[in-house]
Amino acid sequence: MPMIPTRSGNTERNSFVYVVAALAALNGLLFGFDTGVIAGAMLYIKSSFELTALLGYPVSSSLVEGLIVSGAMGGAIVGSACGGRLADRLGRRRLILVGAVIFFVGSLAMAIAPNVEVLILARFVNGIGIGFAAVVGPLYISEIAPPTIRGSLVSLNQLAITSGILVAYLVNYAFSSGGAWRWMLGVGMAPAVVLFAGMLFMPESPRWLYERGREGDARNVLSRTRSESRVAEELREIRETIETESSSLGDLLQPWVRPMLVVGIGLAAFQQVTGINVVMYYAPVILESTGFADTASILATVGIGVVNVVMTVVAVLLIDRTGRRPLLLTGLVGMTVMLGVLGLAFFLPGLSGVVGWIATVGLMLYVAFFAIGLGPVFWLLISEIYPTQIRGTAMGAATVVNWAANLLVSLSFLGLVDAIGQAWTFWLFGGLCLAALAFSYTLVPETKGRSLEEIEEDLRDQAIAAGTHPERSTLADDDD
Ligand code: BGC
Repeated sequence: MPMIPTRSGNTERNSFVYVVAALAALNGLLFGFDTGVIAGAMLYIKSSFELTALLGYPVSSSLVEGLIVSGAMGGAIVGSACGGRLADRLGRRRLILVGAVIFFVGSLAMAIAPNVEVLILARFVNGIGIGFAAVVGPLYISEIAPPTIRGSLVSLNQLAITSGILVAYLVNYAFSSGGAWRWMLGVGMAPAVVLFAGMLFMPESPRWLYERGREGDARNVLSRTRSESRVAEELREIRETIETESSSLGDLLQPWVRPMLVVGIGLAAFQQVTGINVVMYYAPVILESTGFADTASILATVGIGVVNVVMTVVAVLLIDRTGRRPLLLTGLVGMTVMLGVLGLAFFLPGLSGVVGWIATVGLMLYVAFFAIGLGPVFWLLISEIYPTQIRGTAMGAATVVNWAANLLVSLSFLGLVDAIGQAWTFWLFGGLCLAALAFSYTLVPETKGRSLEEIEEDLRDQAIAAGTHPERSTLADDDD
């Protein structure tokens, strides 16, 4: 049995680590803000620009609209594809600083864009910053957090994502009367400045420092965030783990890490194909179709944003006590049931009165179950389950899949509704949710309370037992 380390009694050290994690979690705020703001801004961008031409060529306005909305996701795919490797190479802290600068520049450029081409380019640049932030935020926090509170600290990132979405809904609401889309998009500069300024004073990840041969610096950082006895123990664990690893990129495809690559990539895809961003992006449209008026549906959307934040707080409080699996599995069961109910509500004729309300409550409960399970647990697990030397790159791979699936679902949702109707679209998401449940039940490991090195050791032991770890041949040779 692994030893579960006791909580450091030193409140000063604990509060320092909370400050570091809270600041780094602002990465999530940038991510969430962008997710929530564009739908609101788009309503007014349409009336500011001629959307029927690009670079002088006539095109359809829905293409231009699609490019404006999904430009950031394209950037995020590129950002997360390079973000993992850059985090391994430049260091976690430095990449957060670079990401904040890029996000700032992108937001400024969107706010002052003189034409639609610049706006699309600025959305793409902004997306690159989001891609960096999505990978490096959870990565940095997981490497700096003591094991007993790592779940809560990394999940602050998801809390920041949901808060960012809610802030964006409120910003949309506040600026909507004047149609001030430039202000809506420009507001993103503020958290980027806070993130940049704050991170200047934060330390680098001890694990990354150690790996770069900077043991003294690694020890200093650990001493600021751990009790003395834990520092020695954790440094020894880091040393042992790193000494047994090689460091080529090919490691990502080695058979012994494959099970975790499957878990990370599988959860990345399931987090999106079970429909969460359909609700985040299209909630007002869905609500209107249940019989709500314009303003009522915008207000109900704010309600969904609030439920998302509140239930994420519940997850942050529970995740280190109950563990990751119980939250993930409960959340998925709840999401599946709610998608079934939503499908039924849209299947029945005459979506008004009681049925409209059932649909609204169903949407809120669906979001609540996502927020206590698949939302935070995905980002947490991918920051925990990979060996140190490939952690950045492997998280990058999972994040790319997450953004690509996000893009796919958001682009195909309206077409899907046209083709099979709303009821069957929800049931399709429900079926995928059931598949996510089976996948998680059989493959996802519990990581609660263990150090990153213990998690890695378990993976190695299982691979040695299964004969997929290179050490197996050494052992076999020794036995001969
Ligand atoms: C997902 C986002 C989603 C958000 C909603 C995150 O975990 O990655 O795509 O918009 O949760 O809260």
